[in-house]
Amino acid sequence: MTFHHDPGKTMIQLQHVTKFFGRADNSVRALDNVSLDVAPGEIFGVVGQSGAGKSTLIRTINMLERPDSGSIVVADRDLTALPVGQLREARRSIGMIFQHFNLLSSRTVRGNVELGLEIAGVGSKERSKRSSEILDLVGLGDKSGSYPSQLSGGQKQRVGIARALASKPSVLLSDEATSALDPETTRSILQLVKTINAELGLTVLLITHEMEVVKSICNSATLLENGRVVETGKLVDLISTTGSRLARDLFPLGPVEPRSGGTVIDITFSGGTADRPVISQLSRTHGLDVSILGAVIETIDGNQAGRTRLELPGSPGENDAAIADLRSQNLLVEVVT
Ligand SMILES: Nc1ncnc2c1ncn2[C@@H]1O[C@H](COP(=O)(O)OP(=O)(O)O)[C@@H](O)[C@H]1O
Ligand SMILES: [Mg+2]
Repeated sequence: MTFHHDPGKTMIQLQHVTKFFGRADNSVRALDNVSLDVAPGEIFGVVGQSGAGKSTLIRTINMLERPDSGSIVVADRDLTALPVGQLREARRSIGMIFQHFNLLSSRTVRGNVELGLEIAGVGSKERSKRSSEILDLVGLGDKSGSYPSQLSGGQKQRVGIARALASKPSVLLSDEATSALDPETTRSILQLVKTINAELGLTVLLITHEMEVVKSICNSATLLENGRVVETGKLVDLISTTGSRLARDLFPLGPVEPRSGGTVIDITFSGGTADRPVISQLSRTHGLDVSILGAVIETIDGNQAGRTRLELPGSPGENDAAIADLRSQNLLVEVVT
């Protein structure tokens, strides 16, 4: 009998990517041995503070920055090994959008969308057909003759998205694409990204410093710090990982107010555990007066998930049985104090 094993396809794969800026005696290691796997069709978030290396990471994925070491494979092509001509061709399978849109002000909306196709030598009839389709898709069918200065920020980003899609890429890279937009416009652009992801099967890698963005559209995320990957994984797995910083940032409960004598615990709920009457059961079974100090519940990647912070009377030692009981119900319990 033969056993067919799926090796687990990836759309974007970085292996041991390191990137320095500057000279040896005064250099910055912007990326430090970064390895990442983004599966086809995923929306993958990269988060981290300013200077963490996020933009450098995204710029190496389309080889705007060449890594000093390591490999970058996109859609089965090792970009680090390609000669210039083939690299240019491979880049057409990677679209990119930017915080400040980077549109040409002298060109109409249609002119911006068609620019890359013109450069690639696509005929005018085909270009026009393609740009009309894409502008309809992004909701700008009636703006093709407008100039960027006549558009709102959200409309400009829609043009940016249309331009990125013109060459029918398999990957969309987004560097803080919603950071210059107000919350409502941000939501509509994220919704559009989600629609494109679903309808075109496009793999999306997005950089953001906002956890809200990750929470609303990502399936997976990576936390970068000083050019290193600190955590990475599917959101549904991260939220049930003890000590995950991404999970903490997804469900911020704030600092713990120190109180005397009690035990503060955080319980993380996900999937099937989200709708169980945990607190009433805890107080009934163990005779505890449970205080709720905080709670957040969200839908993450289509699953109900959340975190509740409780205070139990007595020291952690006195609550061993109650905590063990919660853990035996497959709940993630972290003792905070
Ligand atoms: N072209 C460059 N020349 C020199 N240093 C750079 C360059 N680009 C980025 N850096 C440095 O690399 C580090 C990571 O920067 P960046 O990738 O822009 O971070 P982020 O996008 O997370 O804010 C920072 O220390 C930054 O100053
Ligand atoms: Mg940046």
